[in-house]
Amino acid sequence: MGRDKVFVTRELPPVALGRLAEHCDVEVWDEFLPPAYELILGKVSGLAGLLCLLTDRIDARLMDAAPEIKVISNLAVGYDNIDIPAASQRGIPIGNTPGVLNETTADFAFALLMATARRIPEARQYIHDGKWLTWHPTVLSGQDVFGATLGIIGCGRIGAAVMRRAQGFGMRILVNSLESADEIRELGGEKAALGELLSQSDFVSLHVPLTEETHHLISEPELKQMKPTSILINTARGSVVDPQALYTALREGEILAAGLDVTQPEPIALDDPLLTLDNCLIVPHIASASVATRAKMAEMAVDNVIAGLQGQPLPTCVNPEIYQRD
Ligand code: GLV
Repeated sequence: MGRDKVFVTRELPPVALGRLAEHCDVEVWDEFLPPAYELILGKVSGLAGLLCLLTDRIDARLMDAAPEIKVISNLAVGYDNIDIPAASQRGIPIGNTPGVLNETTADFAFALLMATARRIPEARQYIHDGKWLTWHPTVLSGQDVFGATLGIIGCGRIGAAVMRRAQGFGMRILVNSLESADEIRELGGEKAALGELLSQSDFVSLHVPLTEETHHLISEPELKQMKPTSILINTARGSVVDPQALYTALREGEILAAGLDVTQPEPIALDDPLLTLDNCLIVPHIASASVATRAKMAEMAVDNVIAGLQGQPLPTCVNPEIYQRD
């Protein structure tokens, strides 16, 4: 019997790839841009494993073209790019990379919060535009973070990590999530209905997965409930926010600013109106991008592939129900 074949849809840190290659024949897509869907589709027929990224759409058609697949491992904690029910129906385990990126992503959510509150990108541009002529009492005044009210929507591992940072800033923390009021209180927050959170928060930070329920969770009615001095932070998924409604809210001054690590679509088009706004800070989906965390994510993704090839339960499996079957 030949060695298992695994396709890896992007270059990973060499240590992780080297370890994977000890267990199977590895083909790596070494281009900068993702492989096209059709290209992956054309490759999967003989594959035992697929290590993919959140930029790869993995659907039922692709799974049906891969009769020998034993594992699909996503290099991300989010897995909205994969049809999980289809994988479960076919008994294919799906791996993700939870945990290791919590603190790194929370650091970044807070960085966006601080940068938008204190207008750091605008201040940098101000100098580059030759506008720094003197110290001025009102120029580039922003919002205080210390003592402000933070609304957290979705209080999983990353939301809770953001809350820990907010406590250091003496913030009042309102939380809208599935956790009980007691659980939220233990984390230092107060459970709040969505409307209450939106109308009282100075900052609203999103930490929900993208699902049918959370698609455009923040749309025109929600933005209208926010304070005109409030700031929206999104490090979750772009489609949790309706981009057109956000553009209008930012342009009309219904909210003060937004800090977005994620957009709909990704990458954002260069002529997207959101890019014309000084009060919208957009960065290219990098919240988990520290050298150490990305290396750990690669190790976890490789661990999932190796376990799947060996017929073992994946260490971090999105659909563990497949192991409950007879
Ligand atoms: C990044 O967005 C991830 O889901 O890991």
